[in-house]
Amino acid sequence: MFESNVRTKPLITNFTNSELYYDRSKKLIPGYTQTMAKGPTQYVNGASPKYLRKGKGSKVRDVDGNVFIDYNMAIGPLSLGYSYDRVDAAILSQLADGITFSMMSPLEVETAELIREFIPNAESVRYGKTGGDVTTAAVRLARAYTGRKKILCCGYHGWHDWYIGVTARNHGVPEEVRDLTYTFNYNDLEGFAASIDEETAAVILEPVVFEAPKNNFLHEIEKLCKEYGVLLIFDEMWTGFRMSLGGAQKYFGITPDLAVYSKAIANGMPLSVITGRYEIMSLFEEQVFFYTTFGGEALSLAAAKATMAELKEKNVPAHLNKIGALLKDGYNSIAASLGLDFTKAVGYNWRSMVTFSSEAGDPLLMKSFVQQEMISRGVLWGGYHNISYSHSEKDVDYTLGVYEIALKLLKNSLSEGSLRASIRGLPVQPVFRKTENFNMRPVLK
Ligand SMILES: Cc1ncc(COP(=O)(O)O)c(C=O)c1O
Repeated sequence: MFESNVRTKPLITNFTNSELYYDRSKKLIPGYTQTMAKGPTQYVNGASPKYLRKGKGSKVRDVDGNVFIDYNMAIGPLSLGYSYDRVDAAILSQLADGITFSMMSPLEVETAELIREFIPNAESVRYGKTGGDVTTAAVRLARAYTGRKKILCCGYHGWHDWYIGVTARNHGVPEEVRDLTYTFNYNDLEGFAASIDEETAAVILEPVVFEAPKNNFLHEIEKLCKEYGVLLIFDEMWTGFRMSLGGAQKYFGITPDLAVYSKAIANGMPLSVITGRYEIMSLFEEQVFFYTTFGGEALSLAAAKATMAELKEKNVPAHLNKIGALLKDGYNSIAASLGLDFTKAVGYNWRSMVTFSSEAGDPLLMKSFVQQEMISRGVLWGGYHNISYSHSEKDVDYTLGVYEIALKLLKNSLSEGSLRASIRGLPVQPVFRKTENFNMRPVLK
């Protein structure tokens, strides 16, 4: 069907320079990576590149000169694409004037005004540098505003104590802190209702990840938050500027008390944003401390202004939806035509994920095998379709051709019982980003 689109070039198997950098970083950089999802545990170790040097549009080049179509897009920030001309021009123009200053930059005001045009709850705006900065600021603000301590969360919210304490990687977080945060499962309204109470300061959740809300889940949560006087915080790191220009809050018609953004807003420059009602955000004026040296750094704000303008002018969410649907539906029809009912692309068109269920074999081995076959044919694949404005129908056609080959090979190796033996390195490890059944709150009596 699509296979004929795949180039007949030799398979990509030379990762020599990647391995040399990897060796040099041993012990020097504990854990190797600064972003877990970019690190060696998420790629077949030995059959994948490890370091990328250059990117343009939807393509990247690794340190060995191999070129790939990228479906990770730096784990979300590249909403428009690598080295996107309009954004780069804005960064360069600002660079000529200065990166960061001794006083406030007018860009702080101009960017906030623009954000207010996009995001419904953005009566007030503050900036951070990372997603974790603003989720943590939102939680502190909610505790200060309500005078309560407990937090209910659902999703991934960054590396800070208040959140990471509820996960398996909680060493170094005092028990007293861990005991203040509980999780709930998405679409489990009953579990949520049993957990929320008058001691809860805030509910923070990703409005959607791959699953859509059922039975008005988000609206029901909003209702219960109001009933108990709990602040509702939307973590829109992924949904922001993708699901719609106004994020999930606009898409679902829900106005959370606070919302936090990052990733897509500045096409790769480090900027995060907290938005909300002035009545709550005004606590930043005196009581709640949220200041950092690089807050207000001008290159990122210039990039955000240019990115938001382009997202709007080009109606980027519509493009993500169209291209993402071709890829997601294309994957599912290839899998169905091969009779592989254990693998599916699920999620929203603007961001979907390929799943493998365990009845056919070890899901991580299947993922590793497919990844190896995709990478060797020029598709940098971590199991996700993080679509950008630079991804084209041609990219999707090519990718579907590679999927067709990879899934046929998967079918063969499963039927021959040679799956593990066909993986030319260490298989990928589980994604840490587990969002279910962590520190669930015991049902109250
Ligand atoms: C939903 C969500 N919230 C928060 C974060 C944390 O952001 P950062 O890694 O920039 O601190 C992430 C990161 O992937 C995220 O996906």
